[in-house]
Amino acid sequence: MKKNISLFLVIIIVLSSLIVACGMENEANLEGEDLEVETYSLEGIKNKGKLVMGTSADYPPFEFHTMIDGKDEIVGFDIEIAKYIADELGVELEIKDMDFDKLLGGLSTGMLDIVIAGMNPDPEREANFTDIYYEANLSVLVAKENKSNITSVEDLEGKNIGVQIGTTQEDIAQTKIKDADVKSLSTNPDIVMNLKTKKIDCALMEAPVAESFAKANDDIMVVEDLTIDSGTGGVAIAVKEDNDELTEKLNEILAKAKSEGLLEKWLVETDEFSN
Ligand code: ARG
Repeated sequence: MKKNISLFLVIIIVLSSLIVACGMENEANLEGEDLEVETYSLEGIKNKGKLVMGTSADYPPFEFHTMIDGKDEIVGFDIEIAKYIADELGVELEIKDMDFDKLLGGLSTGMLDIVIAGMNPDPEREANFTDIYYEANLSVLVAKENKSNITSVEDLEGKNIGVQIGTTQEDIAQTKIKDADVKSLSTNPDIVMNLKTKKIDCALMEAPVAESFAKANDDIMVVEDLTIDSGTGGVAIAVKEDNDELTEKLNEILAKAKSEGLLEKWLVETDEFSN
C-alpha cells in the first residue's frame, strides 16, 4: 500500500511538472511570435514606441540643418510630416541623417522604418511608396555670371552638370542629356560650392530646393522658365518593399494632414525659414 502511495505521488509529480513545462512552452511560443513581428511593421513601430526616419538633411526646404538656440537641429517640410506621423502613431520620432544613396539600403535592412527625403517614387527603386505629398519637377541652377550660357534644355548638352549621388537628377543627367559631363557629389551644399567656384556649369535639383539655394546665395540663380520633368510627378514617403500595411496607414495620415491644410502650412513655414 505504501509503495502504491509513493508511486501515485511520483506520477502526480511527473504529471504536474509536465503541465508546468507545457505552460512554459506555450509562453515561450507566444514570446517567440512576439519577436517575429518585424520592427519596421506598423505593429513593430508601435511596440518599440519609436518611428525611425531616414533622411539626407541637405535639401532645403525639405530637410536641412539649422542652429536653434545654439544647437544644431534638422528641420524642414519633411520633418514636420514625420513629426505628425509619429504623433498620429503615438510614438517618438528618431531621425537618422545619412547619405541620400544609403537610404533605401537602410529600409531593406530594417535599420529605418521610413524614408522622407524629397524622394521621387521611381518604380525602379526597391521600396514601397506612399501617395505623392508634394508635386515638383526639376530646375537648373547656374552661377549668375554664366547665366547666358544656359537658357534651354538643349543648352545642357555637353555641359558639366552637378547632381547628388543616387538621385533622379543623376539618372536624368546621365541618360537624357546628350554628352553631359556629370559630376556626382554626395551633398547638395557641395554642389552649390562647386557652382560658386565654377567647377561645374550648372546643377539639377527639385525646383523648390534650387529656389531655396538661390535665395541663400547671391551669386547663383535658377534658370527662368526651364523645368525638367522628373518623370515621377513629385515626392513620396518610402518604406520597405511589401510593407503594405504601413504604406496604407501612412497614406491615411498624409490624407488627414492634407485635409487639415497642414501640408500647405508647413510648406510655407519651412520655406520662409530656410532662406
Ligand atoms: N528627388 C530626388 C530623388 O528622389 C532627389 C532627392 C534628394 N533628397 C535629399 N534629401 N537630398 O532622387
